[in-house]
Amino acid sequence: MKIIASNFKTNHTRATTAQFIHRIDKFMIDDNITQTVYLFPPSTALDSFETNQNLHIGAQNCHWVKSGSYTGEIGTQQLDEFGIKTILIGHSERRHTMGENQKDIAKKFNYFKALGYRIIYCVGEPLEQKQAGLSSTLGYIQEQFGGIDLTYDGLILAYEPVWAIGTGISCGIDDIATIHKKLAKKTTAPILYGGSVKQDNIKEIINIPNVDGALIGTASWVADDFVNIIKFCN
Ligand code: 13P
Repeated sequence: MKIIASNFKTNHTRATTAQFIHRIDKFMIDDNITQTVYLFPPSTALDSFETNQNLHIGAQNCHWVKSGSYTGEIGTQQLDEFGIKTILIGHSERRHTMGENQKDIAKKFNYFKALGYRIIYCVGEPLEQKQAGLSSTLGYIQEQFGGIDLTYDGLILAYEPVWAIGTGISCGIDDIATIHKKLAKKTTAPILYGGSVKQDNIKEIINIPNVDGALIGTASWVADDFVNIIKFCN
């Protein structure tokens, strides 16, 4: 059974998020979809959504506090209001655009692990490491495991090569297979692939050994497209 996740990033409003979730939920019920689907709306659109048991709403980010003085951040008090127990940690946009370092990412991971959250933990190499070869790529990813408990039973790992995110250029099938095989030796957690996954490549990607699902940005933001992607994986 595959895991399909949609990361809205900085897209959708409260209103369109609610419509989107309702649409996906109805489709899953009508079509008897039993795969696990995760949706990560922007934090302003989080709410107490009533969804079928296989559809989960998560947070794209949260600071490692319950509440306090952290301007611009949210804490678990804001997630608890909506019963949210799923979080994305280590996404490359937070690492490279927002400047989160491995020490802070590990601190965040351990905070949410202690609270029993389902954590989708993202790793992946920038273009420079990709071009330098496999050992450089694996070494880079290994550093992203610093302070991270790969035996945590709430863990889902996501391999998202930075150069493939939002570029329309997905990682090659053989390269995904190689990296996922290496990652599967390090953890028994499900391993998702992310980076320019679309309707026209999802079938191929999802059938690669050691690929347990996909974490999708751009191609998941239109509900009809995301419905098709879920259908292809079912
Ligand atoms: P794209 O699907 O737009 O490449 O984004 C992938 C991603 O970053 C999901 O977290």
